[in-house]
Amino acid sequence: MKIAVAGVGYVGLVTGTCFAELGNDVTCIDISEDKIKNLNKNIIPIYEPGLKELVIRNREEKRLIFTTNLEKAIKESDIIFICVGTPPKENGEADLSYVENVARTIAKVMDAYKLIVEKSTVPVDTGHKIAKSIMEDNPHKVDFDVVSNPEFLREGSAINDFLHPDRIVIGCESERAKNLMKELYASFEAPIIFTDIKSAEIIKHASNSFLATKISFINAIANICERVGADVEKIADGIGLDKRINRSFLDAGIGYGGFCFPKDTEAFIKISEKFGYDFKLLKAVQEINISQRKYFVKKVERALSSVNNKTIGILGLAFKPNTDDMRFAPSIEIIAMLQGKGCKIKVYDPEAMQKAKYILKNVIYCNNPYDAAKNADAIVILTEWNEFKELNFKKIKSVIKNALIIDGRNIYNPEEIKKQGFKYVSIGRKDVGVF
Ligand code: UDX
Repeated sequence: MKIAVAGVGYVGLVTGTCFAELGNDVTCIDISEDKIKNLNKNIIPIYEPGLKELVIRNREEKRLIFTTNLEKAIKESDIIFICVGTPPKENGEADLSYVENVARTIAKVMDAYKLIVEKSTVPVDTGHKIAKSIMEDNPHKVDFDVVSNPEFLREGSAINDFLHPDRIVIGCESERAKNLMKELYASFEAPIIFTDIKSAEIIKHASNSFLATKISFINAIANICERVGADVEKIADGIGLDKRINRSFLDAGIGYGGFCFPKDTEAFIKISEKFGYDFKLLKAVQEINISQRKYFVKKVERALSSVNNKTIGILGLAFKPNTDDMRFAPSIEIIAMLQGKGCKIKVYDPEAMQKAKYILKNVIYCNNPYDAAKNADAIVILTEWNEFKELNFKKIKSVIKNALIIDGRNIYNPEEIKKQGFKYVSIGRKDVGVF
């Protein structure tokens, strides 16, 4: 099939590349000339395992084209995916201006039937609004359909998530659109849920909000565990084996970050408010998430008596492993709070250092974990990269000032760390060697 993908952000690039990999002719369009120039030289703007290889292969096989020419791509395609950003406005609502711009352009140039697929995360009813604005400004009076087909890609495993999804959600309201979408996804084994457009839009917000709720729930349990001397990991295993609950997204830590959960929970609260519902549960989820970071900083302070004039080596900056994404990373706030209390910060992340340099000021950027630990009063783990799970503790001990690890992601076994001669503070488990 001939596909246009408007917006070469995270979702657009993965979606376009994967549809090309499945044998479709895909044109990806972006307004950023630099981004397109780079992609045409196989320079990928994000770190996503496996993506570069797919881009190179599909470009070579001429199934994947990058361009800034939206009009031409619309004319030449049967299906147009809208994957442009919906960043949060100051009031927390999603900014839909990029989506609207693409919709207006589609309306202006389409001269034959088009299937317009909304993939960006949007408030409920956006699909109908897109359809209405295209209808009002449709000079060639051609047929079209709007479909909502939300993405559930996780950064770091986006290719696998795209090619092997748990489910495919399609909100559509015409047989023609339904058949085209069925054809597009014919090679996928996952169940397809067909719904109306509004339900599909809500499925996306509800999924992310539910996952965020699981995280805040387990962080709340971690707080109770610390007070009573129980172990949150065992509790997550104990409740997670119940199929109705499931173990995933029950890892206690420093709270969720990234470009999706904080933005989508906020947007969902705003949408609910707009339609007259006070989403108190989700507000509590947000509150717990924010306080978890503050609480973590208090933990660091307590372990060091005071952080003023102390030096901390931070390991991990990205909002999660296997990505270089720093957007809404918990590390940003935690580092700012520590700096505010007079703490000196050294940092290391395997992939996110370049992006971090635009955001984190007055920190010392280190080449490896051992540099970050050198002469530090403590190591603080903020992202659970595999590299940190296999540190040479003897080497760390020989360079660090004070053998203390404060682990915001529970990546170590407390007893093992104790054997290595470190004091250890983690989340929702018994601290070792710290009083
Ligand atoms: C998320 C959704 O998972 C994906 O389906 C959606 O399409 C986009 O948003 P992503 O933002 O890539 O994906 O990250 P995810 O793996 O969901 O993690 C989000 C945040 O939650 C991270 O900061 C992560 O560290 C945190 N997290 C996750 C926890 O703190 N505990 C957990 O158990 C799981």
